[in-house]
Formats: sequence, C-alpha cells, structure tokens
Amino acid sequence: MRLTRRDFAHSALAAGIAAALPATLFSGCSVSNAARTATSASAASHPAQFDSPFEIPFPKGFFWGATTAAYQIEGAWNEDGKGESIWDRFAHTPGKIRNGDTGDTACDSYHRLSEDLALMRAMNLNSYRFSISWPRFQPAGSGPANSKAVDHYSRLIDALLEARIRPFITLYHWDLPQVLQDAGGWPNRDTASRFADYVELAARALGDRVSDWLLFNEPLTFTYEGYLDGTHAPGRKSIFDFLRACHTVNLAQGAGFHALKATRPTARVGTALLMSACEPAADTEDDRRAAERADAISNLWFLEPALKGRYPEALAFFPETAIGIKSADFDMMRAPLDFIGINLYYRTIASAPSAIERLTNPQQWLFPVKMEGGQQGPKTDRGWEVWPSVLYDVVTRITRDFNRPQIEITESGCSYNDGPDANGVIRDARRIEYHRQYLQALARAITDGADIRGYHAWSLLDNFEWAEGFSQRFGLTYVDFKTQQRTLKESGKWYAKVAARNALPAST
Ligand code: FCB
Repeated sequence: MRLTRRDFAHSALAAGIAAALPATLFSGCSVSNAARTATSASAASHPAQFDSPFEIPFPKGFFWGATTAAYQIEGAWNEDGKGESIWDRFAHTPGKIRNGDTGDTACDSYHRLSEDLALMRAMNLNSYRFSISWPRFQPAGSGPANSKAVDHYSRLIDALLEARIRPFITLYHWDLPQVLQDAGGWPNRDTASRFADYVELAARALGDRVSDWLLFNEPLTFTYEGYLDGTHAPGRKSIFDFLRACHTVNLAQGAGFHALKATRPTARVGTALLMSACEPAADTEDDRRAAERADAISNLWFLEPALKGRYPEALAFFPETAIGIKSADFDMMRAPLDFIGINLYYRTIASAPSAIERLTNPQQWLFPVKMEGGQQGPKTDRGWEVWPSVLYDVVTRITRDFNRPQIEITESGCSYNDGPDANGVIRDARRIEYHRQYLQALARAITDGADIRGYHAWSLLDNFEWAEGFSQRFGLTYVDFKTQQRTLKESGKWYAKVAARNALPAST
C-alpha cells in the first residue's frame, strides 16, 4: 500500500523506527498483554450502517460546526507582515505538492471573511473551528504580536459572535514559523517554550472573547509526516527527529495548557487528536498485540502524557534517550484537558507480519506492526474507507477509559470531487450519506452515555489539502479556485437542516 498521511504506520513507522535505531535499543522491548487494545467487540455486533425511519434528536445546546485551518484557506501568504511558515517553504519547493499547487492564495479567506461568514449562516452553524496562523500572528516566532493579524482574527471573532457562532480556535494546525524550523523545529525542545509564549500572546489578545481553545491539531500527523515520512513540511526523514518532535509537542501541550489557563483561567482547553479504532486483522494473539501497539501510537501517544503523565505502556520499548526524556518531563507534560477533541475518518486494521516477512524484513522483526485502512466499506475519492461505526467505537472507548471526558468531534468528513451540474447544482449525495451515517453512530454513543458537545464537519469549504494540493474536495461548499466563487453543495444545504432542527432528519 502506498504510504500516505493516513496510512502512516502502515509500514513506515515500523520501517523508519527500526531502520534508524540500533537493534540493541529494542532488546528491552516488553509489551503488556494486560493492556487493552482498541479492538471493539461492537464493531462486529453493530452493523456499519443502519437506518432509522425516525428523526434522531441531539442534546440541547449541541454544537453544529465546520472546521478549517489557516494554511488551507487563508492565502495572503506574505501580506500584512505575515512571516514565512514551514508550509510556505515546503509548497514553494518543486515536487512536494501534487500539481505544484501552493496555499499562496488557497480560498483567499483572509480577504473574504464576510463570504465565509455568509456560508456559516446559511448552514445554521453555531460553532466554527478555525486555526490561527502562528507566523501571521507572531512573525518572528517570538516577541510581539503582529497588530494586523490581531485585527484580522479580532474581526473574524467579532463577526462570529455577532452571528451567534462560537469561535473555536486551534492554536497550531501545522504552520510553524519557518524561523523556528531554522532553529531546529519541533525536534528542538526550546520550541515548547516558544509555543507557550505564543499561546499566552494569543490568549491575551483574543481570550476576552474566545473561551474554547485547541492547543494542537493531530500531533501524530504533523510529527510523523513532517519529520519521519517527509511528505509534509518540513519534509524531514529522521527517526530521531520524529521521536524528539513528538516529545517536544507533548511538553508544549503541557506548557501551552498552563500558559493559557494562567492568562484566562476560565478558558476551556483541549487538543484535537486523530483517532481510529485499531482492529486486529485476525483473532490471534500476534494480531491482537499488533493492534495494541497500533492503538497506542494512534490514540494514546499524545493523550496519556497529558492526562496521565506517562507514555503508553505498549510503546515502552522506544528508548527514553532517543526520545530525549528528562526526569522532570513527565510532570511538565501533564495537562488536565477540559475536553478531548477527536478527528475521526476511518478505522485501522493491524496485523503482525508473518514469519517470512519478519525474516526477510528485519524492520518488521523489530517493530512487528502492519497497519492498513479497512477494505470492506465504500471508499471516498481520497481512498479512505467509509465505516461509520468506528465513530461509535472510539468515542465509547475513550468515554470508558478516561472517565467520561467531555468530547468534541473536531473533524470528520470525506473527499468526493463532485462538481456543478448543468444547473450549477453540486449533487454530492455520497457526502450527505457519509455525515448522516457518522452522525447516527455518534447519536448512538450519546445514548450510551458519551458526553459529546459538538460535531464539526471537515470542511466548511473545499480547500488546499496539504500534499494533495487542490485535488481533494472535502467541503460542504464548492469553491471554484479560479474565480473563488463559493456555492453551497447539496450536503451543505442538508447540514443546514440538521443544524436548524438539532436532529438528524428521517431521510435525506
Ligand atoms: C485532517 C486534517 C485536516 C484535513 C483533513 C482532511 O487530518 O486535520 O487539515 O487535511 O484531515
């Protein structure tokens, strides 16, 4: 299987880690059989799809939202004092992005606040998750805020509040100031302090009107893709950089949490993690252990440090010296998050390599985990399996294992590249079906006791999909990237009905 951001550990994590670390480092490898896997019996007992003839209500005050990220929509990459980000540098490097696309203009949202606001209103949203561009806000990666950026985000926040839409801010959605990358980037543990300073600056400037914050978006994705696999900015390929970057992010999560709370004690602070149910390919002990390791790296690697002050037991064989752990770090990583943000798209099937694969591939001998996306459900245009019950499985599992935390679904969505028909209508029935089924699964989790505060569709509008450039359309709104004209898709109209009724309609 070709490695992509989604297929992250399908072999490269295994291969990369094992290839780069001396074999002796793994000799103490121990895995607790007692530790649970994310495998859920409910995946088998609940069908992937189910139909209800009745309207399904959601809790009062439920947040119906959509999500975007600065680099994917803003454009204006070098305007009003914005500093260069690692994504500017990466996208400007030939050969890194499909079709040579860049986020230089993206959806031009920096100049189109009112158009984007109109879309949110048309969809009856009451929550908008967007990210602050760190290099726009603090161009030098340290020091004062850029007043033009403060004005920009203030305008957006004020307009949202006026429209009775909750501003839900992600502080880091992957666009590190290039100047900090030049100083070592996330593998440099000083970046944790830089991040905490930036968080404090943002909280001071905007926290009088914003109460809901996310520190990071998908830490595993940007550390893995950016520092091990090299398919995302800054395009590094080093196992040591990867492990150290992960650790700095965990330190930054703790430091950022406390900086925000010190500045705005009543703020609600969480982090958005890409999660997946990791099912063993077969009901064997080896595959179950592989699923346990897959689960630990996918779901717990950035959660247990925050909530439990430790790294997952199933990954205890990663050497502390390679990660760069110092004695006080476990306390520094602690961050009693007010809620957990979950980005969820698909499930993961984990297996142990066969004896022959292990013999012929020493990497798999050392890190015996293979991970693949599921193959049974329908696929989106991005190639990801649609498997709605994974949302139920993950949410109920996190509810069980972490003492019923507040949860926000911070992203879910699908790429289907349907365009306008002869009448200019974008009939994206498959996207409606995707959200309907995932929301049904979510409603079931709520009925079974999960404390879910909101659901945010990825994405408000078609945008720049990282290394895939503009080739993947995830939006509830169609964007003509030549004219920047925005048109609500049929899915956007459907979502508007759901949000207005605070319930899933009986049929599409
Ligand atoms: C998520 C990212 C988001 C977007 C969607 C499709 O992993 O957080 O920026 O790329 O995938």
